[in-house]
Amino acid sequence: MTDTTNRVLIFDTTLRDGEQSPGATMTHEEKLEIAELLDDMGVDIIEAGFPIASEGDFRAVSEIAKRSKDAVICGLSRAQYADIDRCWEAVKHAARPRIHTFIGTSPQHRAIPNLDMDQMAERIHDTVTHARNLCDNVQWSPMDATRTEHDYLCRVVEIAIKAGATTINIPDTVGYTAPVESADLIRMLIAKVPGADEVIFSTHCHNDLGMATANSLAAVAGGARQIECTINGLGERAGNTALEEVVMALRVRHDIMPWTTGVDSTRLMNISRRVSSVSGFPVQYNKAIVGKNAFAHESGIHQDGMLKSADTFEIMRPSDVGLADTNLVMGKHSGRAALRKKLEDLGYQLGDNQLKDVFVRFKDLADRKKEVYDEDLVALMRAGEDAATDRLVIRSLKVTCGTGGPAEATLVMAIDGAESTATETGDGPVDATFRAVRALHPNDATLQLYQVHAVTEGTDAQATVSVRLEEAGNIATGQSADTDTVVASARAYVNALNRLLTRRGKVGQDAKEISYKDVG
Ligand code: KIV
Ligand code: ZN
Repeated sequence: MTDTTNRVLIFDTTLRDGEQSPGATMTHEEKLEIAELLDDMGVDIIEAGFPIASEGDFRAVSEIAKRSKDAVICGLSRAQYADIDRCWEAVKHAARPRIHTFIGTSPQHRAIPNLDMDQMAERIHDTVTHARNLCDNVQWSPMDATRTEHDYLCRVVEIAIKAGATTINIPDTVGYTAPVESADLIRMLIAKVPGADEVIFSTHCHNDLGMATANSLAAVAGGARQIECTINGLGERAGNTALEEVVMALRVRHDIMPWTTGVDSTRLMNISRRVSSVSGFPVQYNKAIVGKNAFAHESGIHQDGMLKSADTFEIMRPSDVGLADTNLVMGKHSGRAALRKKLEDLGYQLGDNQLKDVFVRFKDLADRKKEVYDEDLVALMRAGEDAATDRLVIRSLKVTCGTGGPAEATLVMAIDGAESTATETGDGPVDATFRAVRALHPNDATLQLYQVHAVTEGTDAQATVSVRLEEAGNIATGQSADTDTVVASARAYVNALNRLLTRRGKVGQDAKEISYKDVG
């Protein structure tokens, strides 16, 4: 089966490897929404979660499987019967289910389950056979393949193929490999392993040395026909291969990389924004393909060139990735229909009631800010998320600060509908505000990250604030935006607390109990 076509399968693991990234946790509804966007965009396989990790993961994978349209729905499982059974219980609802099972095969990873090479080989045979008895679409991964001895890798890949694996995924778990090596490894496996031409080889790269995209494309040159990747390169540490990068690289450089994907690239910008919004991970401004500056040409020389001919500096059109050619600026005279159209262009489909609510907030923003840009609207939409289910709601905030004394914040907050007020002082307005929140809602959450970004230019720009909190092993990220940085900070902090409350309400059910690193 290997290398018979020029089609490369896109396997998205935003909801599994991406979501595992500390702080990137998504709610159930958010996972369903992202899965639907991925399916509609033409992703071939969606790894929807790790069903045995928690009740929440199980529910999400089952529901995504039930709602799936064209994509294969895959779940992750360790090399244990109970994991594989649980995975099957979740993915079996899909029209096209897949079980993905893995075990760490490098010397570093073999030490964890304390198996010698022969015992591990036997475990691989047994677990892949078990998976294949449940499902006719089985993917097997030797975790940390790029640091596994070649002879042993060939041996276990052969065992997995004989036991019925239909896809063999070769992970660069620690982001250690380099392009030439990545291509050679796949080539070597295809050449040496009996039965290799019966399966699809896949590549799964992490970006620790910034080479994930290059390594993935090199693996394809070596014969891989599946790339595992995430939107915005979300994922643990430096992240995974970015889906948008491999898709656009294959498209733009088709002359030297003659492989195609089934992804509709015009949906990339929209899904990138949604994943950033729900994960709370901002997209780096100069990120390839989906960064805010990826299509901005500011220097005089560039603008001059662009005016003469777009291809002077552009190798792709903004519209290829779903960016409207013109950034139509909205303002206080813009009406509801214009707002709806604009939000649709940005990927938000709103019902009439939602539009009504957003319109009020848009008018409020437009009163304070002359020109409302796309980025402002995306920030506005983000700020409105979760609001309906929030247990903590800020009613008002007054802050005094300046030279000659500590800042003071007076906060009125409703907790489960009951309002109370606190006044606290602090080392600056944000500190005073956060103290006031804690006075009204005492908690043990520790602040892991506090980040402020100006959404656009100018002193009336909105600030987007991200706050990441950790409490008893649960991590939640809150975001908000406002022209007032302190207000945005307060809302982001409260947003993160609300998310922790939601997770706390489901401890034992939803909290992550098992990580894919617990390779027993
Ligand atoms: O990075 C990795 O090795 C993984 C495996 C579970 C496929 O994510
Ligand atoms: Zn991974």
